[in-house]
Amino acid sequence: MIKIVKASLRDIPAIQSLAAEIWPVTFKDILSQEQISYMMDFMYSDTALTQQIEKQGHQFLFAQRENKNIGYLSFELDYKSDTKTKIHKIYLLPETQGQGVGKRMFEEVTRIALQHGNNTLSLNVNRDNIAVDFYKRIGFHIAGEENIAIGNGFLMEDYIMECSITQAV
Ligand SMILES: CC(C)(COP(=O)(O)OP(=O)(O)OC[C@H]1O[C@@H](n2cnc3c(N)ncnc32)[C@H](O)[C@@H]1OP(=O)(O)O)[C@@H](O)C(=O)NCCC(=O)NCCS
Repeated sequence: MIKIVKASLRDIPAIQSLAAEIWPVTFKDILSQEQISYMMDFMYSDTALTQQIEKQGHQFLFAQRENKNIGYLSFELDYKSDTKTKIHKIYLLPETQGQGVGKRMFEEVTRIALQHGNNTLSLNVNRDNIAVDFYKRIGFHIAGEENIAIGNGFLMEDYIMECSITQAV
């Protein structure tokens, strides 16, 4: 059985260990090793995750199977003071992908976002990530694209994808 539970500051090591397993596999054909290490450091260091949770209003959820964490999602309500919920991260262990868990996590965020009065989910995804097709499948469309310079000469080459949540995803 899959459970979706809230995570907090004390779960930072668990988030980091999932990321360390999932990121290299997800991005091996998309980004260089150097860029993967660089991005993991600035998004998943103790300092970065603490800031996201304490200062930037990011909320983390775990997906659990038999009480074991198999993935995480983070989101931010009222993104940029709009009625949007931004999904910052969603990552599932490779062996658990394709079993409906990602969709379940989005259903949970949709419920929370609607309850809060938000009407849109928004996210960034690398333009070469096959997750683009997952997002389309669950109701997202491409709303734009942006290249974000993240330092050290690295770029994030993203689509911005959005989904209206006045109806269920
Ligand atoms: C992207 C991710 C979160 C999707 O979660 P998932 O549990 O694997 O997807 P689900 O099993 O819930 O799929 C839901 C639906 O999307 C479809 N789908 C999933 N991945 C797909 C893909 N790559 N292409 C087309 N359809 C896809 C499924 O077939 C399913 O369709 P159905 O409802 O008709 O049965 C997960 O695969 C993952 O963690 N990937 C690696 C990390 C990553 O890239 N994260 C996104 C960073 S922006």
